[in-house]
Amino acid sequence: MWKPPEKIKYQPEPGVWPSKAQAENSLWFSSVGIGRIQLATRTWIPAMVPWRSTEEGIVTDQVLAWYERFAQGQPGCIVIEATGIRDVPSGPLMRIGHDRFIPGLKELADTVHRASDGQTKLFIQLIDFLSIRRRPEAEKYFQRFLRITDSHRAALDAADWSEDKIREHLSTLDEAALEDILTDRELDDLRMGARERVTDVEFEHIHDLPKFLPGLFADAAERAQKAGIDGVELHYAHAYTMASFLSRKNTREDGYGGPRENRARLPLEVFAAVRERVGEDYPVGCRYLSDECIEDGNDVEDAAYFGAAFAKAGMDFLSLSRGGKFDDAKQPGVGEAAYPYTGRSGYECMPAYISDAFGPFGRNIEPTAIIRKAVREAGFDTPIVVAGGVHGFELAEKILQNGEADIVASARQSLADPDWFLKAKLGRGEEVRLCTFSNYCEGLDQKHKIVTCKLWDRIEMDQPDAQKSPDGKRRLVAPDWQK
Ligand SMILES: Cc1cc2nc3c(=O)[nH]c(=O)nc-3n(C[C@H](O)[C@H](O)[C@H](O)COP(=O)(O)O)c2cc1C
Ligand code: SF4
Repeated sequence: MWKPPEKIKYQPEPGVWPSKAQAENSLWFSSVGIGRIQLATRTWIPAMVPWRSTEEGIVTDQVLAWYERFAQGQPGCIVIEATGIRDVPSGPLMRIGHDRFIPGLKELADTVHRASDGQTKLFIQLIDFLSIRRRPEAEKYFQRFLRITDSHRAALDAADWSEDKIREHLSTLDEAALEDILTDRELDDLRMGARERVTDVEFEHIHDLPKFLPGLFADAAERAQKAGIDGVELHYAHAYTMASFLSRKNTREDGYGGPRENRARLPLEVFAAVRERVGEDYPVGCRYLSDECIEDGNDVEDAAYFGAAFAKAGMDFLSLSRGGKFDDAKQPGVGEAAYPYTGRSGYECMPAYISDAFGPFGRNIEPTAIIRKAVREAGFDTPIVVAGGVHGFELAEKILQNGEADIVASARQSLADPDWFLKAKLGRGEEVRLCTFSNYCEGLDQKHKIVTCKLWDRIEMDQPDAQKSPDGKRRLVAPDWQK
């Protein structure tokens, strides 16, 4: 895990909690329009993958329990975890790439609406991602994966060597020697595990992404609509396909890479296809990055440009995250896959309690405010959602009062205490169990293990209704602290 250079340890800083009357008069607990629907409050739980669906990507009782528990705290909106739009095996990641996924998602929508007494709207995050392999053993990489080229032969002065001999010889070389022989991409495949990029246009399935992704996203959005989910969030953030199209690192030369307007082209075409399919009344927005937080990546100026373009196209909301890229991920162990939330960009996405002088709270506010301003100056009042380290009413309310965002989201604090919005709204903020930003939950996510929270997954285990993980060691949802 990347560690900030200054390594200052922070405690939660929730600030002052409001009285019930103050909460009632606050902006955070006031309603807001998203396209043609209304959220009861400006509170929001952004997407969090809890690895609870079946291996086939179908909603389970554990998935229902996870969202039901969040819904009991009555946030204005919950966004269902990143859900795969293709009908291909993706481990226990939720999927929406076929009509057979609709019944499970419908049950999920009904569960959330019921558990929140109709106070919470449910959106779903639609994701496409490219393939990534685990880091190989060096010997295996040279024996099986590396394609031997003339440039290897030239670098080794081995024009008449057999391929087997070259492979064997490469296996004996140290890192320094390999750097003179392998390309940057080959070195990356060896050190990190092979990962597809949107720039790999020599492969038909990558070249043709712009041809088939709009249709796949539109099909998925239509299924969400049929399932009774209230809106869709197109996943244009972090390390995945659509974010890679937006990235400055996208050098495609087919009109979908290079200058900003070309990089925005596929995201806009996807949105247009989705809009056409679901109609004007159905909320459609996206989550994207205020800053990629990597060398030579997008910065806030790119993000401001994209924000205005997305708003102009008619998106109903823009949700801003930051970082979370593969480009600066920590080297995985042999046999493990790279995790995009490990390097500096990962830290910026999910800042932990050990931080730099700025600290882990509210790191995404300033760039989000710049993007919001650009969207407003372009003439659009599209609601802007901000997330990152918010765990108290005071900061959330300040963000809204200052016009830095229109909706304030909170992921980990909501996991730590799913009742926290309700407690704050009822003037019982002192009862909120505060997230310590330990990132224990993120560690579980990294290993694709069922996600829970350190604060509650081993307490009150003898409660008769405590649902437990298959090994019986962790509870799956927070205890009911309202009782
Ligand atoms: C366990 C876990 C899973 C996450 N999964 C997603 C995801 O599926 N999609 C997404 O856009 N962000 C995901 N995130 C990032 C959060 O939505 C959020 O942006 C981040 O945690 C920072 O907000 P916070 O400080 O309020 O936690 C995940 C975060 C955690 C902790
Ligand atoms: S495990 Fe719990 S306390 Fe730790 S960061 Fe995650 S939500 Fe917060």
